[in-house]
Amino acid sequence: MPQTRIIGTGSSVPRRILTNKDLESIVNTSDEWIIRRTGIKERHISSKREKENTADLATQASLNALDMAGISSKDLDMIVVATVTTDRRINSTACMVQKELNAANAAAFDVSAGCSGFLYALSIADNAIRCGTCKTALVIGAERLSSITNWQDRGTCVLLADGAGAAVLTATAEQGGILSTHIRSDGNFWDLLYSSNGKSTTLHPMLQDIDTTSSQLIMDGNRLFKKAVGYMALIAREAMKHNSFSSSDIGLVFPHQANIRIIQALAKNLRIPMEKVYINIHKYGNTSSATIPIALDEANREGLIERDLNLLLVSFGAGLTWASAIVKWSI
Ligand code: ACO
Repeated sequence: MPQTRIIGTGSSVPRRILTNKDLESIVNTSDEWIIRRTGIKERHISSKREKENTADLATQASLNALDMAGISSKDLDMIVVATVTTDRRINSTACMVQKELNAANAAAFDVSAGCSGFLYALSIADNAIRCGTCKTALVIGAERLSSITNWQDRGTCVLLADGAGAAVLTATAEQGGILSTHIRSDGNFWDLLYSSNGKSTTLHPMLQDIDTTSSQLIMDGNRLFKKAVGYMALIAREAMKHNSFSSSDIGLVFPHQANIRIIQALAKNLRIPMEKVYINIHKYGNTSSATIPIALDEANREGLIERDLNLLLVSFGAGLTWASAIVKWSI
């Protein structure tokens, strides 16, 4: 049975940076509160004046990943985009990316699994490669959460952001690459995090260039926090057990970047030192399905991931969903 290797990564975030100081003039919050309670200092937000919608960000991240992989878009058999903020209900973001890349030979579709979306998409593509359905796949996490943010709710608007990350996967006869993926969900807790039609409100002058929709995200942050730590720890342990790994076998952890305190609690639970946990939430905030592929690309380009290092990717999100993957790095 073939194995799956990651051969290229890419990412893209909007040009505009919204700082905590900016948010101080929009809602009743403070830079100090946001940093202390979440770890976020700034985030990137799309502007409707730029080419920065979900498909645009996904396309740019993909071009960067394909460039690193050194393959043509014609080589792609599958494009899977994880997103909860597709630009149109119809068509999928994946088909829009396919058009932009001119990836004529790929089957393209979206996956909706909240912040776990990228790991769900990775799992689908990995299984398709292992069973021979496809040889080369492009997996993307792309979001424009600014479009579904209630910009008057200080409990959520300080967290959410926009961006995209991508990975090119290919079949290999060698051992290594993606060692395992695990995906889980529990719909009983859907109402801890969902979107609903919100009241139309006038946007603060600083936010006028955001292309918002009538849909707005509603979150029970306290209850989610506890679920996030518990489920991520559970599925990380499941992945390690599956590979007969102990915590010391993990070289670097890429957790979903929702809150620095969730990440610290997870690391403590898994007995993995924070030096082995990649953090970039201070720069990007929570970009949902894009946090892990953006972090992976950033660490990869910074030269922080040595070949053969075992990576633990672990996420949690709306659904509720949670997921993990263990990857022996092969770039
Ligand atoms: N600035 C200042 N004060 C605030 C802010 C803010 N931005 N937001 C809330 N507060 C206030 C609250 O009103 C509350 O005030 P009170 O004590 O007078 O009632 C106080 O701060 C404490 O509020 P908590 O909600 O208890 O704060 P907490 O420490 O739990 O932090 C947070 C809230 C950051 C939302 C946290 O619960 C969290 O990160 N939860 C998990 C989020 C998550 O994982 N989401 C899933 C992914 S998101 C996605 O899928 C797109």
